[in-house]
Amino acid sequence: MRIDVLNGVNLNVLGRRNPEHYRGLSLDRLETQIYAWAKELGCEARCRQTNSEVEYVEWCHDAAESADGVIVNAGAWAHYNYAIRDALELVTAPIVEVHLSDVDRREEWRRLSVISDLAAERIVGKGQEGYRLALEYLVGAAA
Ligand code: DQA
Repeated sequence: MRIDVLNGVNLNVLGRRNPEHYRGLSLDRLETQIYAWAKELGCEARCRQTNSEVEYVEWCHDAAESADGVIVNAGAWAHYNYAIRDALELVTAPIVEVHLSDVDRREEWRRLSVISDLAAERIVGKGQEGYRLALEYLVGAAA
């Protein structure tokens, strides 16, 4: 089983972003952890990150063709990007929406997600642990 992990805009500079929300976590460390968890769970993870909307949309198309589950942290795009929403509508495998920080308890504009109704599960505010829970959810859903 292959799970695509699609991290979006500004997640490559996580380690330099607000430590109150991201605790100095780097994308590198996060991806290393995701690959280790995937191995433990007996699935294959494919982690991708981009700041390009075009690339992200193409990766959603790609996931729609070949992934068995998709973990989506679209960063700020989650709050307003309908092109990414449209691309995710093509995905028939289960989607888990993840946000490292608790977007429901930050600024008002972060409370809206234009993709959350496409997600089978939504995990927010659990830091990197959220990705482990998402992997577990997707592996469980496929069992
Ligand atoms: C984020 C939350 C978003 O509001 C923000 O724009 C991000 C990261 C998170 O993982 O907490 O870039 O998706």
